[in-house]
Amino acid sequence: MNIIISSNHPETHHSDCIILGVYERRKLSDAAHQVDKASDGQLSKILKSGDMDGKAGQVLMLHHVTGIVAERVLLIGCGKDSDFNQKQYQNAISSAINLLVKSGARDAACFLPELEVKDCLMGMKIRLAVETIHHTLFRADTLKTEKEDNPALRKLILNITDSKQLNQAKQGLSIGTAIANGVKLARELGNLPGNICTPTYLADQAAKLAKQFKNTKVSALSQKQMESLGMGALLSVSKGSRQPPKLIEINYQGGKKTDKPVVLVGKGITFDSGGISLKPGAAMDEMKFDMCGAASVIGSMAAIAEMQLPVNVIALVPSCENMPDGNANKPGDIVTSMSGQTIEVLNTDAEGRLILCDALSYSEKFTPKAVIDVATLTGACVIALGKHACGLLSNTPSLAEALLQAGQTSGDRAWELPLWEEYQESLKSNFADMANIGDRTAGAITAACFLSRFTKKFKWAHLDIAGVAWESGAQKGATGRPVSLLSQYFLDQCGKSYKI
Ligand code: BES
Ligand code: MN
Ligand code: ZN
Repeated sequence: MNIIISSNHPETHHSDCIILGVYERRKLSDAAHQVDKASDGQLSKILKSGDMDGKAGQVLMLHHVTGIVAERVLLIGCGKDSDFNQKQYQNAISSAINLLVKSGARDAACFLPELEVKDCLMGMKIRLAVETIHHTLFRADTLKTEKEDNPALRKLILNITDSKQLNQAKQGLSIGTAIANGVKLARELGNLPGNICTPTYLADQAAKLAKQFKNTKVSALSQKQMESLGMGALLSVSKGSRQPPKLIEINYQGGKKTDKPVVLVGKGITFDSGGISLKPGAAMDEMKFDMCGAASVIGSMAAIAEMQLPVNVIALVPSCENMPDGNANKPGDIVTSMSGQTIEVLNTDAEGRLILCDALSYSEKFTPKAVIDVATLTGACVIALGKHACGLLSNTPSLAEALLQAGQTSGDRAWELPLWEEYQESLKSNFADMANIGDRTAGAITAACFLSRFTKKFKWAHLDIAGVAWESGAQKGATGRPVSLLSQYFLDQCGKSYKI
């Protein structure tokens, strides 16, 4: 899809469709008003006849409106103009795209970016539009021999009234495109099944980034190398699988050599059966999504590298399968992590923290400015926050604040949970330094408490994305979250010229 910025009048636009906003109680947006005038009040007449009120979610496609050059006019209900916020703006764009695809239009001009959106300047409106357009057009059909629908739509113009805002809009377009590409990569990797997306496959896909982007290097540690580093926790998970484990490292150096890097760590369990503490059968297929932390970290690196941000970032992806096997971890097994701390594996299904803890210890060698791990870590986080916010826990308030803010700005939101000392008690083991599970309560927090024992030497934040990384049900599929949040976090590190 080709997205272009321009500044034209709606009534004289040559295209298959123009997209206009209408607020509740048939209140016309400026562009809709212009079209209404040029068509001798045809729009208001149609609206008055009761076809549309302008409530959020309503859409109305009109053909051959007199006085208008474009073939179709698509009206999008935007709700109350005083309430029109970022989420509603994105919903409006998304409904417009869905209808456009159905209509058979080959190109269209969208006037929604001209609407006023709460706390959102032009650059940001364009970026959000671009992210939403790509998100809506995404189809999980790479492994289908026949594609579901093949939209005729090839070109979309995002129209802005004020040509003085052209530069801002263009910056929004390039940032939005980079993030959308990162999100797409994360969704594609996330959706792949465990028999294709193995740790080796993930490493191969990551390696492609080095070919694609400047300042990007990729490597992977093998099982042998991890053995010599003493990664006994990570390797205890992978030894129940026939697939060799990998610790993938993506190194992007856009900043000065002397700038300390931010390290991202993404959980890359390519299938989580639970191991000997086997999961129930219902919806177990969804545990192919247990590498969505890895996918989002890889997608974020792609976005950062495409934008060539002036920062240094290292992504670490510990990756393996969690399978039941004669050689697999057994409940009660005690393993020694790279940090030297011993862990009693009371539940083999709490494997994410076992691979993350060794990757976190390994990240020390980069003397990081901060470490952020991203993981589909606990079902408890899904119960606590549902699918709208990911869980955030951190040992550094300023880092937590920066991530919460990035979530707010990008619309890819996080919510903080407490990492109080009191919660550590439940990880007590009679036989090792700690157990890998707590009691039944506060599972998202005790999982983070476990990780916190490996992050004493740096500023650290943990994003539990178990609820947000994929959708279940009819819309089953990876969401690409939190690529947008993480990209925003790095944009925020880059100062004024990246503020849109
Ligand atoms: N990958 C799962 C977490 C998960 C479960 C994410 C369901 C999304 C939906 C993780 O490895 C896991 O199994 N966690 C256990 C931990 C428990 C054994 C302490 C869980 O949440 O049940
Ligand atoms: Mn598990
Ligand atoms: Zn898991």
